[in-house]
Amino acid sequence: MMIMNNLKPLQERIDSFLTVCISQIEPSKLQQAMRYSLLAGGKRIRPILVYLTGQMFNCPLSKLDEAAAAIESIHTYSLIHDDLPAMDNDDLRRGKPTCHIQFGEAQAILAGDALQSLAFSLLASSELIDAEAKIKMIAELAHASGVNGMCLGQSLDLQATQQSINLEQLQKIHCYKTGALIKASIRLGAFACGEIAKSYYLTLDNYAEAIGLAFQIQDDILDVIGEQSIMGKPQGSDLAHEKSTYPALVGLDNAIKLTEQLYQQAIDSLKQIPYNTQPLQDLAGFIINRNS
Ligand code: IPE
Ligand code: IPE
Ligand code: MG
Ligand code: MG
Ligand code: MG
Repeated sequence: MMIMNNLKPLQERIDSFLTVCISQIEPSKLQQAMRYSLLAGGKRIRPILVYLTGQMFNCPLSKLDEAAAAIESIHTYSLIHDDLPAMDNDDLRRGKPTCHIQFGEAQAILAGDALQSLAFSLLASSELIDAEAKIKMIAELAHASGVNGMCLGQSLDLQATQQSINLEQLQKIHCYKTGALIKASIRLGAFACGEIAKSYYLTLDNYAEAIGLAFQIQDDILDVIGEQSIMGKPQGSDLAHEKSTYPALVGLDNAIKLTEQLYQQAIDSLKQIPYNTQPLQDLAGFIINRNS
């Protein structure tokens, strides 16, 4: 998967951390299925956001590893379940057959379930984060993953399939199904930093909301104009399944314009922060220009 060159070291860091985490689990068919999806590649945008946010406030990366791994573990679980026949029914993910194609539906469901639990175990086991911050991080991840976050978004997304909905409803779906975990990534990074980051929580939320929505609009755009071999997942899946998407609702050109506006909004938010925001600015640019 293509990623900006300067982000490679962070991508490699999370890849090796996840490799160690998953290798410490006793081998089983379930462990194999979890490993298969978790280590299949992926851009690692969410862990990178944890690292970049923490780094901006001078937090050592070693304090951020568990949070970065936890969010990627939740994200990978959401992808495994998203691909299931009962949901988007897709057979390609991260350039490989989806988890349920490789291991069967039942094992794929369980791999998702177990990746979700793993995320919270990881956060709870972090030794460098103090107890108060840890509880805040666990509560945030739970909030962003469940009925107030990703799961709600996925449920609304399914309800909106083969239905016509308005722009406000579509924005809500995108904010929950994708925005919530992106916002949580940034919050986890900030929560790990303690006092120093506190006055920037709201500003960071504004940045997160803009890039979170832009991320899913770009995902919808790529479903129309992307290259399957570069994306590592099927192109045209949304159209085939009559999903509600930005290109379907406002047209491709307007969808692209919206990502540009959201990029600008994200950049403007960062102006409130008197630290080096360049890496977060670059990431916002990557999100709207990516081809995978
Ligand atoms: C895909 O996420 C699903 C969405 C929320 C749009 P990513 O585009 O981050 O997928 P990976 O992790 O790189 O495979
Ligand atoms: C999925 O959105 C969002 C998740 C919570 C996984 P999509 O269904 O558009 O993601 P892709 O295109 O399959 O990666
Ligand atoms: Mg989906
Ligand atoms: Mg999907
Ligand atoms: Mg999609």
